[in-house]
Amino acid sequence: MCGIVAYAGPRPAAEVLIDGLKRLEYRGYDSAGIAVVVEGGPVSCVKSAGKVNALERLLRENTPELMEAAGCGIAHTRWATHGEPSDVNAHPHSDEKGKFYIVHNGIIDNYQTLRKRLAEQGCVFRSSTDSEVIAHLIARFYQGDLPRAVAAAVRQLSGTYGIAVVSPLHPGMIVAARKGSPLVIGLGEKENIAASDLAAILPSTRNVMYLNDGDLAVMTADSVEVRNFENMPIERETTRVEWSADAAEKGNYPHFMLKEIFEQPETVENAIRGRIDHEMKSALLSGLNLTPRELAEIGRIVIAGCGSSMHAGLVGEYFFEDLAGIPTEVEQAAEFRYRNPIIEPRTLVIPISQSGETADTIAAVREATAKGALVAALCNVVGSTVAREAGRGVYLHAGPEISVASTKAFTSQVTVLLLLALLFGRNRRMDRTDGARLIAEIEALPDMIRKVLEQVPEIERIAKRYAHCNDFFFIGRGPLYPAALEGALKLKEISYIHAEGYHAAELKHGPIALLDPAHPVVALANNIPGRDKMLGNIQECRARKAPVIALVTEGDAEAEALAGDVIRIPECSRYAAALPTVAALQLLAYYIAAERGCEIDQPRNLAKSVTVE
Ligand code: F6R
Repeated sequence: MCGIVAYAGPRPAAEVLIDGLKRLEYRGYDSAGIAVVVEGGPVSCVKSAGKVNALERLLRENTPELMEAAGCGIAHTRWATHGEPSDVNAHPHSDEKGKFYIVHNGIIDNYQTLRKRLAEQGCVFRSSTDSEVIAHLIARFYQGDLPRAVAAAVRQLSGTYGIAVVSPLHPGMIVAARKGSPLVIGLGEKENIAASDLAAILPSTRNVMYLNDGDLAVMTADSVEVRNFENMPIERETTRVEWSADAAEKGNYPHFMLKEIFEQPETVENAIRGRIDHEMKSALLSGLNLTPRELAEIGRIVIAGCGSSMHAGLVGEYFFEDLAGIPTEVEQAAEFRYRNPIIEPRTLVIPISQSGETADTIAAVREATAKGALVAALCNVVGSTVAREAGRGVYLHAGPEISVASTKAFTSQVTVLLLLALLFGRNRRMDRTDGARLIAEIEALPDMIRKVLEQVPEIERIAKRYAHCNDFFFIGRGPLYPAALEGALKLKEISYIHAEGYHAAELKHGPIALLDPAHPVVALANNIPGRDKMLGNIQECRARKAPVIALVTEGDAEAEALAGDVIRIPECSRYAAALPTVAALQLLAYYIAAERGCEIDQPRNLAKSVTVE
């Protein structure tokens, strides 16, 4: 939520910042702004409600010279929390004299107390944001040393923040600080870039330094020094990122979401590559760093995540219980954190997060760690907070996921959960034959998804037929129940259609009252255990004249005959079924949203990476 970029180097800062904001726009897109300090000149600060394009237009039309000026600067794309999206509430914010400009990602919990105190001291506030207090605090503490003033200011804050600060009193210097919101610094050739995530950095460099909570970085074109908030120097290691900048480009696809859906055969393959132990008929997941004895001692698994990541966890629950016999629960990460979870010495907590920066999931990791749990994270973003704080886990290797709606991360998460279940299962009650069978299924996953993607013309046709409907039900059983939840989530978030995911058995306990010809039901009726009951549920829906779109196993004529519209899923076991099924549901949601002319990659009110509670 909210994207920050800061640049120090010889290139025109505004160009680099605007390019960075475009790449971070999926983090928030209701307003944007930049502040550039040109040596010897004043600070130029331009802000605008709306998307980064609106800001860019403003800059090119009104201040073309700024686009060419060398200097250093900070920029921000906003997802509003305090104060409506407007020019005034857009970042950067400054003190009254325009000496200190800040951009902020996060929430300052004590801003009202600080604001009151500063107002009593004569500060005049212009915006309704929580962030503006930071600029005024820095001005109050400044005595000639910008890093010290920033450190003194952040010591007053409670809440979460990633900030970047510039001042005309220190041209060429950027001070950044983090607590609870991500910040990474790209180390280039005679230039450095700080940003909320890698997407803004990769076009310039792949050498990066991740800041930890409590770090303050002083950055110029030639140097980056990291200190703590007490001004003591800290060493942070430099790592090289595998992702290329191209991976975060749309290529020939109209939307990132479609590109990412089509990447899935490859991303699932990447999640599997090098992780199958053919000799032992098991999985090799070295990032777990657990001995066979430690594995065997796990008595219970608790999975924590939000949104699609939680849905992936719900699929994983079936795997762990069924294949490994380990009692497993899935908790919404916020619920986990606040309900005082029971953690026994043999509990393994698995936080799942694409971004690794979701506030509630980070908090769940901290709660689990504090209670002495073994924590192993499933993350996509290498070096993210969840990954680092868990200390052990499995990376998804799905490449950057830019579309706000998660697609390839979900299928990679489910794939990795299946690999974990293979490992846990073989460590316990699964024999070699069953291990080999499961491996064959895991290795067939990319092709299964490929076959679903071949059905685009049919799925597009179905999408067009139903795009006018305003309410949908998605129903499933077993591991396809969380797949139904995921299908409904995909549809509602990108098309704004009301969609609900239900266990098919729940239909009769209330929701069936809503069924009528205007309520299509998407029924996940693959030929896995529960299919016969699902066919009964389809009949019940048809009897209420609700149109049924059924996802059925290829060749299942009986199921096909019952449904109005059919999407065919390759024959597979109940362990594999969620992956090709969800790929089909992603396409259905995508084409319905496209038909309705929605802004698919940047749905209203949403942002990728929910870094506030
Ligand atoms: C849905 C979606 C969200 C995320 C959720 C968790 O399409 O993208 O529901 O899955 O915000 O995000 P991560 O996985 O980054 O923790």
